[in-house]
Amino acid sequence: MNAQTPYPLAQPHDPLHEVLPNIYRVRGSVSVRAPFIKYGPLTLSFSRNMYVVKDHDDLTLINSVRLNEAGMARLSALGKIKNVIRLAGFHGMDDPFYRSQYGATVYSVDAPYTKGMSKAPKPGDIYFQPDVVLTPDSPLPIKNALYTEIRSATPKDGLLILHRDKNIMISGDSFQHWPKPDPLFNVTAKILMRLAGFFKETSIGPGWRNYAKPDIQELIHIANTEFDCLLPGHGEPVLKDASQRFLQRLQKMR
Ligand SMILES: [Fe+2]
Repeated sequence: MNAQTPYPLAQPHDPLHEVLPNIYRVRGSVSVRAPFIKYGPLTLSFSRNMYVVKDHDDLTLINSVRLNEAGMARLSALGKIKNVIRLAGFHGMDDPFYRSQYGATVYSVDAPYTKGMSKAPKPGDIYFQPDVVLTPDSPLPIKNALYTEIRSATPKDGLLILHRDKNIMISGDSFQHWPKPDPLFNVTAKILMRLAGFFKETSIGPGWRNYAKPDIQELIHIANTEFDCLLPGHGEPVLKDASQRFLQRLQKMR
């Protein structure tokens, strides 16, 4: 694969590993300029998760993360990269790479791919158009799966629920489980994100909550759908009693 593409380069990440049967995870990272500090070169580097759902030889990437050469070789050995699903309105920077280089079909939450964090981006700030804008009625490229979204948030945030032996929910920015910073954080992110209230078990991302302003009642309604596992866009997988744990947290946030 040609490394000289106009797409963001791979950023540090951990190896691909199977977290549940036929569902793989890569803990990747992203570096962004500290959004709440106007001056100075402060960069936050922190982790973000990609999940890969394997169906025979076909792969669907959720919350895509571009990988380094060894990582792409491992991913390609797992199967054919057929689809990308973008759940978080603030993610998606690596989706154009997967469509261009692997021919993946890109499904996205109904939120523009925009530079920066404007809620009303100018046309020139929109850098990509997905192949499919998701609604709860959309056919999905994953069997026995349901798509839903947090409509009260701006931008919306999507969720996938996979019906397997257990019900598995995969989130974008909303439902998180980030008990502590991991080795993909830089010092700035460890300090500033702790001050901002990150690093809680089974919680709603505070940065996303403050910006996207979801209705807590809608989150409670979603948590009542009873999912055993949560595979979050940020943080660590919750493999047991996930919906009950989130309901307890959300009751305190009302
Ligand atoms: Fe995020």
